[in-house]
Order: sequence, then C-alpha cells, then structure tokens
Amino acid sequence: MSAVLVVHGGAWAIPDELATASIDGVKAAARKGFLTLTRGGSALDAVEAAVRALEDNSVFNAGHGAALNADGEVELDSIIMDGKTLACGAVSSVKNIANPVSLARAVMEKTSHVLLTGKGANLFAESIGAATVPTETLVTEYERREWKKHKNYSTGVKEDFNSQWAHDTVGAVAVDSAGNVACATSTGGIRNKMVGRVGDSPIIGCGGFADNTSGAVSCTGHGESILKVTLARLILSHIEQGKSVANASQVSLQHMGDRVQGAGGAIVVSPSGEWAATFTTERMAWAAVEGDVLWYGLDPNERAKEELSQ
Ligand code: GLY
Repeated sequence: MSAVLVVHGGAWAIPDELATASIDGVKAAARKGFLTLTRGGSALDAVEAAVRALEDNSVFNAGHGAALNADGEVELDSIIMDGKTLACGAVSSVKNIANPVSLARAVMEKTSHVLLTGKGANLFAESIGAATVPTETLVTEYERREWKKHKNYSTGVKEDFNSQWAHDTVGAVAVDSAGNVACATSTGGIRNKMVGRVGDSPIIGCGGFADNTSGAVSCTGHGESILKVTLARLILSHIEQGKSVANASQVSLQHMGDRVQGAGGAIVVSPSGEWAATFTTERMAWAAVEGDVLWYGLDPNERAKEELSQ
C-alpha cells in the first residue's frame, strides 16, 4: 500500500498577512515528513519529523512562535501516538523546549508513563539531556504584539475563535507502507490562557489518537471544546461505524459546534490511505502528500495540488 502524510498548521482565522507563510510552512513540513517515509522511516518517525518542522517555523503556534499565557510565558503541550501498539507519550506545560514532540516521544519510549507535566516534564528532559532554550528564543515579535493587544481569553465559540485571538496548534498524521498509522500534535495553547492551563493537545483521544484498526487523527481548535467531546476518538468511532474519514470528521466537528459551540479542525488518515483535512473555523493551513502529489489548502472547499516530481 502507498504511504500518506497529512499536516495542519492550526484552525483559526488566519490573517492574510500570515497566509502565504502558513501555506509554505505546511507544504515544507509535509514534504519533510513524507521524505522520512520514502527513506524507510515509520509513520511515527514521519509525524515527529513533520511536527518538528512546524515547531521550528515561527509562523505557527508551537515551539518557536508559541502563544503566550496570561503571565506572558511560554508553556507547551504535545502528544505523539503509535497506532501499531497504542504506545503514546505526551508533555504539558513544559518550558524552554524547542521541540516538545520529541520530548513526548521520549516519554513514550523511555518511561512507563504516558503524560508528564510542568516541572516533572522539564526534570525528565534534563535527565535525558534534551536540549533546552531560553524562553525568549521561542517568542516572536508578532506574538508579543498580539498578546498585548488581546488581553482576554477566547471562549472558543465560533465568533471568538474566528476573531484572531486564537492562533492555534500544529499536527501530523501518517500511514506508512506497512499500514501502520501515527499522529502527533504540538501547541503553545491559546493566547492568555491561565498559567498551568492544559488544552486538548496532549490529552490522549482529544488532541490526537492513532489506532491501526481505524486511523490516526490530529485535532486543532478550542481546547476546552475538544476536551468535552473527545474529538479525536469521536472521529475514529464514527469511522469504526462505517463513515468515510471526511464524513466522520465533518459530523464530529458539527457535533462539537452544536453541543458546546466549539470551533476547530482535524486531519485524519486511515490504514488504507484515505485522508481528510476538515475545519469549522474560517481557515486552516494544511498539506498532504500522497504518492507523487502534494495537496494543500487554506480556505474552506479549496484545494490545490503540485506534482512532486516537478
Ligand atoms: N487546541 C489547542 C489548545 O486549545 O490548547
């Protein structure tokens, strides 16, 4: 079977000034993740590589460019999950780490736990010699300016989450040639969150889930809403009941809108390589590589493609 990799750069009202950089960023991350697959890497290796590229790109809210909390600090959340074994690792409220997705993978591979938070996550990073960076290197001028402008926390309802207060999350899903799926999600959370607030991203079944029996999902959007409907698992449960990946995503996001007035997005891939990128916000930057074709989009119902051999 052929491998597929899909990435997102966050579902929110992406302003025109960030549109080109967001599209270029997801395209580059998708290519990087897919290259990992073509060089024999697993789906897990590919989603980690893609999310690292998104974390390193300061246009996105993860790693460099992360949103600031109410104290003007960076607290990062991330998850990674292997659909073959259901092995999972996550970190929340971690500081001074440029690539939380790799720390999440280390939690999965080097501890008996699934999720480490705050001081414990940073102590674990230190114990394995993970690189740390000064907080200021993760903060962009754009984020500092927006943080000063928007001193309230988004309630997550469609109107608020589309008001450009939000600046949300990155993620990747992949299926490799062996039919194994994986997901990864990483975020700075929502601007002006309370110190210590944890959203959906590092919570298994909410910000991401991967299971070879149904597929892999990475979510983005208003964390409190995603947590309430366990969005990643909800999408997979619709797939398990026979819906296509696109329909399962639409139905689940619609449910989140109807039930808790939350807006967001999701990328999904099935073990057979069916994939979808779906959102209920104004925009979501996404890209997918399938064979020799790179698909990408930003606005609803619009997708473009490039032949990778060109
Ligand atoms: N979706 C990311 C967050 O709410 O923190």
